[in-house]
Amino acid sequence: MKTTLHQTPQDLVEAKEDYGQNCSANPTMGDIINRRFSRRGFIGGSLAVAAIGATVSPLALISADQAKAAGVSTFDFEEIEAGVDENHHVAKGYDADILLRWGDKVFADSPEFDTANQSAESQLKQFGYNNDYVGFIPLDGAADHGLLVVNHEYTNAELMFPNWAKVGKITEDGKEENGVIKGEYTKDLVDIEMAAHGGTVVEIRKVDGKWQPVLEGKMNRRITAMTEMTISGPAAGHDRLKTMADPTGTKVLGTINNCAGGVTPWNTWLMAEENFNGYFSGKVKEDHPEFKALKRYGVPGDDYAWGQFYDRFDLSKEPNEANRFGWVVEVDPMDPTSVPVKRTALGRLKHEGAESIVNKDGRVVFYCGDDERFDYVYKFVTTGKFNPDDRAANMNLLDEGTLYVAKFSDDGSVDWLPLIQGQGPLTAENGFASQANVVINTRLAADALGATKMDRPEDVQPNPKTGKVYCMLTNNSKRKDEQVDAANPRGKNLFGHIIEITETDMDFASTKSTWEVLLKCGDPSVAEVGASFSTATTKNGWFGMPDNCAIDANGRLWVSTDGNNKKATGRTDGVWAVETEGEARGTSKLFFRVPIGAEMCGPCFTPDDSTFFLAVQHPGDAGLPTFENPPTRWPDFKDGMPPRPSVVAITKQGGGKIA
Ligand code: FEO
Ligand code: CA
Ligand code: CA
Repeated sequence: MKTTLHQTPQDLVEAKEDYGQNCSANPTMGDIINRRFSRRGFIGGSLAVAAIGATVSPLALISADQAKAAGVSTFDFEEIEAGVDENHHVAKGYDADILLRWGDKVFADSPEFDTANQSAESQLKQFGYNNDYVGFIPLDGAADHGLLVVNHEYTNAELMFPNWAKVGKITEDGKEENGVIKGEYTKDLVDIEMAAHGGTVVEIRKVDGKWQPVLEGKMNRRITAMTEMTISGPAAGHDRLKTMADPTGTKVLGTINNCAGGVTPWNTWLMAEENFNGYFSGKVKEDHPEFKALKRYGVPGDDYAWGQFYDRFDLSKEPNEANRFGWVVEVDPMDPTSVPVKRTALGRLKHEGAESIVNKDGRVVFYCGDDERFDYVYKFVTTGKFNPDDRAANMNLLDEGTLYVAKFSDDGSVDWLPLIQGQGPLTAENGFASQANVVINTRLAADALGATKMDRPEDVQPNPKTGKVYCMLTNNSKRKDEQVDAANPRGKNLFGHIIEITETDMDFASTKSTWEVLLKCGDPSVAEVGASFSTATTKNGWFGMPDNCAIDANGRLWVSTDGNNKKATGRTDGVWAVETEGEARGTSKLFFRVPIGAEMCGPCFTPDDSTFFLAVQHPGDAGLPTFENPPTRWPDFKDGMPPRPSVVAITKQGGGKIA
């Protein structure tokens, strides 16, 4: 069977004009004259400080307090040069060691990776493809021993399978010429793809200063697109979740497109299902009851051939299967026999991640971005309280609570609007007969409430030290000048921005907060870009396309990016350390960069900041790459071996905290 993929699946996600469609009339036309650009939109850092060279640590010359006062970064590392080449680069004085590659053993009896003879059976026992979210759960309170939980978001067939892709040519305007890239899919290849999706739990231990997987680890586990899961919360058992294979509407096979995620305060792992639409093919007729909702979610995306071999991914045969994806999946990594649970109370959207914080009243708050142009920012507040003394008591906290969507106003306030059946427009006559319908059609419910259409909301991360919440907005080339508003202040927003939300009185469950723009991204030396990095930021220090982020133990922000290579910024993606406090606010420094074609995912610190785990996703995905002729063979540079997505462990030489 053949399918025609003229770009990689993820490129299609980026490129498709109307993947999911937000046809609501929610305002994007801000009051342009009065629009509220960030009060700190362009911070005038000291020019004298800017004269400090790009590779000289300011902290080598002055104290941290002096640096803050002078408006320079307090991150104590020598910034690396931005650029593009075949390898990764990390700041001087740090080691970036490859911990786990696609195909590496996860169990003692895993087979050796053999690209010429890969099978689904082998892949089920090996590290999956395209590592994205990385979480670290210490075991026995140790900083040098723990569980690593890693999402495997999607697959790049053209880089995984020998003789699969035939290279055509794509012209500058995106047209195919002289043939196309065509892969000949078989059920065997689809099964390998399904086994390469999902996630991995693996015990890791530091031995002689270097992290290693513990292949005998009793909690080691692979989760895939075929793993049995249950569905809980308001939508469980609803007719719209019932299929021929599951007349109960409570059991589903697998999880897909697991992008970012989270580790809960009770040490379960959340896997966010993002671009689930791409796995479905086939059609339903326009008069089908699911037609409108499927369209709002961009289903079918037709990016994979799975529907050719599995009826459940063909809408014409199983129209309800798509309703069983787009959720946050909770996994107990401490119990390898536990059944993962899709928690429908958190809504159905293209979930980027699910980062959380325990509120001062004990309730737990989860922040979620819906990664699509013109989609929304959400938070979920549990009804019950976190019990730090009884893990079992927390295991169903995610089934009851209130889901809110954000409405950002030009006066700097944000209202969190509850998605509760029967309140406001969420009535039976508007199509929301039950809370099940509200959560299954979360996007439509948020449309009805008048949420603010954002520029691709990705990771949303609370900072427990400061009470601020950071929202990564990757970009939105489709926003027209007449559609700008204060929270999305640039038309044709190619480089994205970061919004900082302040939760009132550190009350993360608050329904009224304030916000401002922390950074408008892009090259600040190009006036029309309108970027707002501080003037202390060097030519290496700016970035575009913020995607994920992490907060270190000092409460400082680290941002990873997706798309700098593709947007010809003269740099690959990487991790930048971003100052958010004092006069240095808005100053950014490049710490690590990925090889050509890769995206930077998974920033995750150990609790003591001694290790920084990063996920290098889709290395070599630049131009029209093939298994035989990739632009890099990172990380091992062996003849015949394609590039391999890998998790990297960064430590300081001689020990100590990162920066
Ligand atoms: Fe999978 Fe929104 O990145
Ligand atoms: Ca992402
Ligand atoms: Ca994060």
